[in-house]
Amino acid sequence: MARLDGKIAIITGGNSGIGRATAKLFCKEGAKVIIAARRTEKNQETVREITAEGGTIVDIQADVSKMEDCKRIVEETIKKFERIDILVNNAGMADRHIPINLCAEEWYEKVVRVDQFSVFYMCKYVLEHMEKQGSGSIVNVSSIGSQGIAGIAYSAAKAAVNSMTRNIAIQYAGTGIRCNAVAPGPTPTELNSPEQFKLFNKEFAAVCGRHIDLTLPEAQPEDQAEAILFFASDASKAITGQILYVDNGVLVIC
Ligand SMILES: NC(=O)c1ccc[n+]([C@@H]2O[C@H](COP(=O)([O-])OP(=O)(O)OC[C@H]3O[C@@H](n4cnc5c(N)ncnc54)[C@H](O)[C@@H]3O)[C@@H](O)[C@H]2O)c1
Repeated sequence: MARLDGKIAIITGGNSGIGRATAKLFCKEGAKVIIAARRTEKNQETVREITAEGGTIVDIQADVSKMEDCKRIVEETIKKFERIDILVNNAGMADRHIPINLCAEEWYEKVVRVDQFSVFYMCKYVLEHMEKQGSGSIVNVSSIGSQGIAGIAYSAAKAAVNSMTRNIAIQYAGTGIRCNAVAPGPTPTELNSPEQFKLFNKEFAAVCGRHIDLTLPEAQPEDQAEAILFFASDASKAITGQILYVDNGVLVIC
């Protein structure tokens, strides 16, 4: 039997990188997947590819930094599938390693809206349904940046994601609803592509680099997807409130 047979799973930002690898793996494991991201063309390309592989997947065009879009994702999912078993809060943006003295208020707000507020909104609206069902698994995608080794905005947002993960886990412990996080280390995706890296603050990135071992190999999107699947599936049914670093030891050994 597949590990997610018949489960209904929302994956935010599921059209690229870690989210896309997770959507593929979830479909292979028998889930019905809803990807929610901004770019319609990329969404539809992902849907076409995974459908051709035999997966059941639909897309919702949405900006998860907006409360009303998060509400709509949940409403549309319930209308179509009548329940939500799994929520993967994966959508996110990098903050170009901008340190506090160089960080404009508008940039801070933009990053925190995408990386932190989206998690609050999505969890809040999905939990209403998981509560009625008496079951569900939420997997938040955090980052090694939660330990302060990225720009000020991303570091703060991902630390908040870790804390929200534990807070939700505490509230729902013993109810059948679990909440865990996967914290990736460097993983080759659009978010840190060479094009994006050109926009990073190189000086502060080098300062952060002193606190981790970047000579170790990168993890792959598929490695992150496997960890997300573990938390989403019943294999982890006794585990809640945990942050799992998937980073080939980049952070652990420093
Ligand atoms: N790649 C890494 O090295 C790395 C490391 C640590 C954490 N992460 C985290 O992994 C997650 C996935 O990122 P990725 O590396 O796959 O990058 P990616 O850029 O390939 O994917 C990010 C996804 O989020 C979507 N997204 C961004 N802003 C959105 C918004 N406002 N509304 C809806 N969708 C939005 C994008 O369209 C895309 O689908 C992010 O939360 C990121 O912070 C990545």
